[in-house]
Amino acid sequence: MNQQESKWWQGSVVYQIYPRSFMDSNGDGIGDLRGIISKLDYLKILGVDVIWLSPVYESPNDDNGYDISNYRGIHPEFGTLADWEDLLKGLHDRGMKLMMDLVVNHTSDEHPWFIESRKSADPDNSYRDYYIWRKGKGDGVEPNNWTSFFSGSAWQYDSASDDYYLHLFSRKQPDLNWENPRVRREVYDMMNFWLEKGVDGFRMDVINLISKTEGLPSAGTDRYAWGGDYFMNGPRVHEFLQEMNREVLRHYDLMTVGEAPGATPEEAIQYANADGSELNMVFQFEHMDIDSGPGGKWDLRPFQMTEWKRVISKWQTELEGKAWNSLYLNNHDQPRMVSRFGDDGKYRVESAKMLATFLHMMKGTPYIYQGEELGMTNAKFACIDDYRDIEVLNMYKEKMAESDVDETAVMDAVYAKCRDNARTPMQWDDSANGGFTTGTPWLAVNPNYPEINAGQALDDEGSVFHYYRKLIGLRKELPVIVHGVYELLLPEHPAVFAYSRTLGRERLLVLCNYSGSDAEFSWPEGFQPGEGLLVIGNYGEASALGNGSSVLRPYEAVVFHYQS
Ligand code: NOJ
Repeated sequence: MNQQESKWWQGSVVYQIYPRSFMDSNGDGIGDLRGIISKLDYLKILGVDVIWLSPVYESPNDDNGYDISNYRGIHPEFGTLADWEDLLKGLHDRGMKLMMDLVVNHTSDEHPWFIESRKSADPDNSYRDYYIWRKGKGDGVEPNNWTSFFSGSAWQYDSASDDYYLHLFSRKQPDLNWENPRVRREVYDMMNFWLEKGVDGFRMDVINLISKTEGLPSAGTDRYAWGGDYFMNGPRVHEFLQEMNREVLRHYDLMTVGEAPGATPEEAIQYANADGSELNMVFQFEHMDIDSGPGGKWDLRPFQMTEWKRVISKWQTELEGKAWNSLYLNNHDQPRMVSRFGDDGKYRVESAKMLATFLHMMKGTPYIYQGEELGMTNAKFACIDDYRDIEVLNMYKEKMAESDVDETAVMDAVYAKCRDNARTPMQWDDSANGGFTTGTPWLAVNPNYPEINAGQALDDEGSVFHYYRKLIGLRKELPVIVHGVYELLLPEHPAVFAYSRTLGRERLLVLCNYSGSDAEFSWPEGFQPGEGLLVIGNYGEASALGNGSSVLRPYEAVVFHYQS
C-alpha cells in the first residue's frame, strides 16, 4: 500500500475509554458521559485522534455494559442521549473522532428480543429464532459440551420450554442467531441509527464468533470442553461481514476494528483485507497469550523473549501489504502493560515509556487504554471480595470448589491476569479517590494514586504522559512511522527487542531493552552508530547511544532516524 492510498485511520492514534472508570461527574461512584466531557481537553493535549468508547448503552451490567438491553438508549447511570450528543460534538469540535462499541454476538437476556424469544417455542413466535435454542440430550445434559468464556457450560436451561439457549459468555448474554436474516437486518438498522447521528466508527466485540458451525458439534467426548473450533472464525463469518460492509460500512468513511480472539494472520488478512470488503483491522490475541499455559489465561507461564519476538514479528510481516494491524498491549480485558511486560516498581516510568516506544513505532494503528499514558499499574486487593468482574468471580468460585485447591495460587492468577487490574478508576489527582469521584467508587482506586496521577504527570515534563504526547506527535511528522516496512533485527538477543522500519530512503532503528539491567548489543548491520538522528528516547538527550555506545540502560528505548 503506498502513501497515496493512505487512510485517516492508519495515521491515527486511538484512546480507549472504559466509561465506568473514567470520570464521575455526579458522585455516584460510577464514571459517566459528563465526566468524559469534562476531560476532553486532557485528551486533546495528549493528542489522540479517535476515542473508542466501551459500551454506554442500557444494560443490566452483568458484564459491565457488554450485555446490552437497548442498543439505541444510553444507560441512565452514564447520562442521556443528549449528553452523548454533547460528547460527540465536543470531540468533533476538537478535531477528534468517536468510535462506538458494537456488541452484536449477543444481547442481554433483558433485551426485548430475548424477552419475546423466551416466551414460547411455538413456530409463530417470530422472535424465537433470534437466539440459538436447542433441545438437551436428556438427564440434564446440555445440547453440546461447550464451556463458556466465563466458566461453566455455555448453555442455560429454560424450564418453560424445556430447551436450552446458547451463551458463549455469561448466562445473561444469550448469543444472537446470525443465521436469521432478520437479526442481521436489525443489527444493520441499529448501526445506521448511530451512523446517522455522526459516529465515526465501530469497535466490534468478538465479531469473529458470530457464525457457529452447523449442527453445533461437541468438542470431543469430555463432559465439558472448549468448543472454539466450532465458533471462532466460523463458516459464514466472512459472508456476514461482507454483507454488513455492503449494507452499512461502505456508505460512510469509517474506522472499523473487529475483536477476533483466536484469529491467525491468514484470517486477519480476510477480515482486514486492504480491498476494504470487510473491516479495517482486527484485534488479534496471539501476543496476549504469551504468558498463558495450555490451561488458558489463568494458567500462568513466564514471559519468553524469543516467543515474543516471533509472535510480534509474525503479525508485522505476514500482514505487510495485505492488511492493517492494530497495536495494543492492554485494554479493559487485560492486565496493565507496565505490570505485565515492564517493571511497575523501580523502573515503572522507564519501562512504561519503553513499552510505549516499542508499540508506537510498529506498523499499525496504536491503541492507548485509559491510564496507560500515566503508567498506571495492576491493583492487588486483599481478597476476592474486593473484585467485581464476573469473569474472575466465576473462575474463583469454580477453582475453589475443586479438591486440593491452593488458594494462594488462585489469587496469584487473579493478581496477574484479572480484568479488574485495568478497570480501577482513572487517577486524576492526589485528592480522595484520585479525583475520580466524590462518592464511593464502584471498584476501589489503586492505592498508588497519590504518586501516579494525571495532575502530577501534566506538571512533570519527564512524565510518561508527556512522552506519549511526543510519540503521538512524531507519528504526524514522520511518514515512515505509519508506512515503513518492519524488519526484526538482533533476533537472538535475550533482552533487546530491535527492529527497523523502512520507507524509501528513510529508515528507523528502534532499540528496546526489556530488562532491568544494562544490555550490551552489537549495532545491527547497515546502521552506523552516530549516523542516525535520535528522534525519541526514554533517557532523553542523556542517551549515550547517539555517541556510539552499545549498551542500553535498564528499560532504555531509543529511536534513530536514518536518511540515505
Ligand atoms: C469482549 C469484551 O472486550 C469483554 O469485555 C466482554 O466481556 C466480552 N467480549 C463479551 O462481550
